[in-house]
Order: sequence, then C-alpha cells, then structure tokens
Amino acid sequence: MTEQRTSIHGQWSNRMAFILAATGSAVGLGNIWKFPYIAGENGGGAFVLIYLFCIAIIGIPIMMAEVMLGRRGRQSPINTMATLALEEKRPAPWSILGWMGVLAGFLILSYYSVIAGWALSYVFRTAGGMFEGATADGVSSIFAQFVSSPESLLAWHTIFMVATMIIVARGVQHGLEKAVRYLMPSLFILLIVLVFYAITTGYFNDGLSFLFSPDFSKITPDAILIAMGHAFFTLSLGMGAIMVYGSYLPKDTSIAKTSIVIAGADTLVALLAGMVIFPIVFANGLEPGAGPGLIFKTLPIAFGQMDAGILIGTLFFILLVFAAWSSAISLIEPAVAWLVENKGMNRIYASVWIGIATWIMGIGTVLSFNLWADFKPLSMFKIFENSTVFDLLDFLTANIMLPLGGLFIAVFAGWLMRERSSQDELNTSSKGYSTWQFLVRYIAPIAVMIVFLNVIGVF
Ligand code: PHE
Repeated sequence: MTEQRTSIHGQWSNRMAFILAATGSAVGLGNIWKFPYIAGENGGGAFVLIYLFCIAIIGIPIMMAEVMLGRRGRQSPINTMATLALEEKRPAPWSILGWMGVLAGFLILSYYSVIAGWALSYVFRTAGGMFEGATADGVSSIFAQFVSSPESLLAWHTIFMVATMIIVARGVQHGLEKAVRYLMPSLFILLIVLVFYAITTGYFNDGLSFLFSPDFSKITPDAILIAMGHAFFTLSLGMGAIMVYGSYLPKDTSIAKTSIVIAGADTLVALLAGMVIFPIVFANGLEPGAGPGLIFKTLPIAFGQMDAGILIGTLFFILLVFAAWSSAISLIEPAVAWLVENKGMNRIYASVWIGIATWIMGIGTVLSFNLWADFKPLSMFKIFENSTVFDLLDFLTANIMLPLGGLFIAVFAGWLMRERSSQDELNTSSKGYSTWQFLVRYIAPIAVMIVFLNVIGVF
C-alpha cells in the first residue's frame, strides 16, 4: 500500500457530501434540457434504450475508475495522472489526459453557460407572468424572439458566468456543499409535480410510448454516438470533473456504491424530465425534434395553464439554474485546482482568469442562435452540413472528447494500474472487483471503439 496522500484543497466532510456534490455535477442541463431534445431528435425509445445501456456498461465502470484515480492521486487530474503514471511506472505523457479534460471542460462551459443563461432569463419571464394563458405558438415565438437577440443572450451568459466564478473562487466546501443538499431534492420533487401535470394533458401514454417503445429503424450510427456521448456528458465523465471530486473523497467511502447511487439519481432525473416534456409536446401538436429550444417551448405552456403555474414555473427555472450552476462549477474545478497547485495562484485569481476566457469563448454560442445562425464552418463534411458553432462545440466535446477521455481512463485504470493499487483503492468484494475489471478492461473500451469506428464507416 502506498502512503496516504492528502489533498491541499481539503476534503468533503463525509460520504454524503461527495454524493451530493457529484450528483450536483451530474444532474444539470444535460438531464433536463439536453436529454429530452436529443431523444426527440433521434426518434425516442431506441435511442433512450441505447443511452441506458451505455450508462450501465460504460458509464458506471468508468465513473468508478475516475473516482478511484482521483482519490489515489489526490490532486488536479493533470497532476493526479502524472503522479499515478510515475507510481505505476508508466510513461509520463499520461498527464495529457488531464490536459484534454481541462480543454473539454472549458469548451463545454462556454456553451453550457449560454444555455444556463436562457434558464436564468426564464426565471424572470415566468415570474413576470409572461406565459399566463399563452398558446403553444405564443410560447414558441417568445423563445424565437429571445434567442434572436445577441445582446440579451450575452447579458444572461455574463450573469451566469460571474455567478459561477464567485462560487468557484470560494472553494469546494463553502456554500456549495450546503446549497446542493437542499436544491437537488427540491428539483426532484418539482419534477414529480410536473409529471402529475403531464398526466392531466391526456397525452401521457403517448409520451411514455415515445420514450420507451424502441423502434430500431430510427437508429443510425450517429444516433448511437450521440447516445453514448450523452452517457458521458450526463454523468460528467471523461474530463476529470468526477476525478477531481474523487480527490476530495475520504478514504473509507465505498466507490462502487456511491457511483451507482449517483448514476441512478442522474438517470432518474433525465427520465422524469422526458416524462414531463413529451406529453406536453404531443398534447400541443409540437415537434419532438424541435432542437435545443425544446424545453423552453414546452414547459412554459404547462406553467401558463396549471394552477399556481407562476409559482411552480418560477421555482422550476430557479432550480434548473442551480442544477446548471453545480455542474458548471465542476467543469472548471480541474483547471482551477491545477492553477492553484502548479502556478501557486490563489483560487480567486484562477477562477477569474478561467471565467474570462470561457466567457469570451461563449460568444461563439451566443451568436450561433442569431447573427451566425447560417454560419456552418464545417459544412463541407456531410455530417456537419447543418452544424452551427454551438453544434460543433457540443459534438466535439460530448461525442468525441469525453468518450475518448473515458476510453483512456478505462485503459489506464484497467490495464496499466497494478491490480494491487486498484484493488486497494476500490476496496470492494472480489466479485465486485472482477466485474468492474472486466467491464473497464474489455466492455467499456471496446464499446467506445466500436461506436467511433461505426461512425467513420469502418463497420
Ligand atoms: N453532467 C452535466 C449535465 O448533465 C454536464 C457536465 C459534463 C458537467 C461534464 C461536468 C462535466 O448537465
């Protein structure tokens, strides 16, 4: 056994704190905004099934691997990978994995913050009664008008970024841990309330069958890639967010159990969101494939119709913003932790610099919905024919960088780390360990490879 390392950034006060923080990272726009719209664009049921399958056989084992590496290294992902490579007598460039994660986190946050800004603006729109009695058409045109204004998108993006920087600057345990404790369960309860509303639309069964009856004729290699990419995105895997949170995890916590709890909670939230959105879609004759605006075109109809809709709607968007917030924080934590460790910067400076860079990058996404809506930088490739800057950023990060990061994490944890080290750190039953090892050695890396090769057209 190696000597116990400790993190210079502190430690979670207990197992529950880690679960809440990691769930806070996992549950976010990915579950409520992204999952319904990509499920809608890719035909529903079969896509959902592939996504669930990816969570179970790729997501959970890689999440365990990430937490394990983090806890063993007890530093930012870059330094954790460097330290573990040295300790396991592997080549030093494994730290590149950490760098790639930092880059992915930065790129994701740049568009994440813009969308979180939409949610923030909808807090005020809902509270102001804008959707009272509005029709589906009315709600859609309010959305179209909103995103057509670069100034307002930029303003909300700015507010969200500043708020994120403030929280990150204050450090892991201050505030964040406490806030997440109440907000996550409240979001969950509100989703259940909305499911009850969805039942009253009379289209609940249509929604359910869209989500859960698979029609494999709608599945293309790209759809499989998107489902797999989303499994990584929604669980915050493949870029070091979960690794850095794992580095603050007390030694005696069971990694297997906590990972399963986190993945389960995350999946449940996504499915509930789908069960709310699709009945509304069908009840109002909307398009399931409406794209990134889907929740903003559907939920306000519900809030406009139901009793206490203003209250429930406002609360819902507030909670969505907080869920996005707790994810955003984890997107830059790996970079901040590295700047603190290697550049001796204090957290405040580190957060400000990263925040400014991310904010600038976010302008590309802001413009994708208005001035640059017709700017398709990679239109020469068929698959990117209709992709805006935002679409490209999303594709590159969620569908390429995260699965690639996850693949390397699986290879390192499964093949290159000595069994003695991984066994000591995971500390599960021998049956649990061998199941994990099998999944992380064979199933996860091979599945990721096959999906990649399938898209390139090798299979
Ligand atoms: N999991 C977050 C969500 O679903 C997004 C995220 C991705 C956060 C990667 C951290 C790392 O919204």
